[in-house]
Amino acid sequence: MNPPRLHCLGCGRAAKVILRWLREQARVDIGQICNRSLASARRAVDFIGAGEAVEVLAADLSGDWLLMGLPDGELEAAALGLSCRMPGQFALAFHLSGSMSASVLDPLGVPVAAVHPVRAFADADSALAAMPGTRLVGEGQAQPLDRLRTIFEQAGGRWLVIDGGGKAAYHAATVVASNYLVTLNQLARTLAAASGLSTPDAVDLLDGLQRAGLDVLGQSAPAQALTGPIERGDVAAVARLVAAADGQGQGGLFRALGRATLDIALSARGQKPSDPAMRVILADASVATSQRD
Ligand SMILES: NC(=O)c1ccc[n+]([C@@H]2O[C@H](COP(=O)([O-])OP(=O)(O)OC[C@H]3O[C@@H](n4cnc5c(N)ncnc54)[C@H](OP(=O)(O)O)[C@@H]3O)[C@@H](O)[C@H]2O)c1
Repeated sequence: MNPPRLHCLGCGRAAKVILRWLREQARVDIGQICNRSLASARRAVDFIGAGEAVEVLAADLSGDWLLMGLPDGELEAAALGLSCRMPGQFALAFHLSGSMSASVLDPLGVPVAAVHPVRAFADADSALAAMPGTRLVGEGQAQPLDRLRTIFEQAGGRWLVIDGGGKAAYHAATVVASNYLVTLNQLARTLAAASGLSTPDAVDLLDGLQRAGLDVLGQSAPAQALTGPIERGDVAAVARLVAAADGQGQGGLFRALGRATLDIALSARGQKPSDPAMRVILADASVATSQRD
């Protein structure tokens, strides 16, 4: 069976890597590539190594597939625009968003799905090299999902399906795991710099700690992985840490994370006599002040 012919509206950081990967694995035949500017579409075609850069998708692409690789905020308007010009034409259409439902493409009047690649596409070459084994989270109608699952699994991806109703929570989970890990690292670096550690030493030390923590979390539940002064109930030590964080203007974030950490500790070891005092030290400073007033 011939691979499907796949056109792309919005071929930026994510879509061009997906298309080149699928092409190199002989899973799709690349068709037209349309971006806001023709120059950008040509750059995408150069990267993919196939396809035709166009200013506007041709009016008749009946029976082909369409990837809408647009930013999330552009999907609805683009689907409505295409629905006027070329209604019901494609055999299948899908987008790459982790937070928008596949149903945003319903105006196209064709079977629709979403495939969220769980990967950052900041650097195209390294993202392409890392595509085998990448998690792809599908959501949408059963028939297009089955067809997409086939080509993405044959290309070497790992497929998962989630329900549309859980999409916002799924995306929030990925933001916490990925983006907030960066935020935690920044907080740790700020505090390490205040300790007098050089930047290279701080980066190396914190990197080792975070990697070791992630290794443990791959094998056990968070409550089992937790150690440290909050878990031990060492109120005096935590008071010193809060003061140090306050000194860097980071007390609010440090306390909020500490309260969440105390909740995890409680779920694992139960209540300790020191926990009420720990709660006071970790209380939101503005709430504590207003309660005193
Ligand atoms: N980037 C990631 O790491 C990543 C990871 C997973 C999923 N995703 C998802 O992938 C999708 C695209 O994100 P991205 O980061 O790849 O976006 P991006 O790099 O900003 O690329 C978007 C592309 O869409 C084109 N475009 C924008 N509006 C258009 C319009 N009205 N008509 C035609 N083309 C239009 C742009 O064209 P010009 O180049 O001419 O401006 C650009 O090439 C989003 O749903 C995102 O959630 C992204």
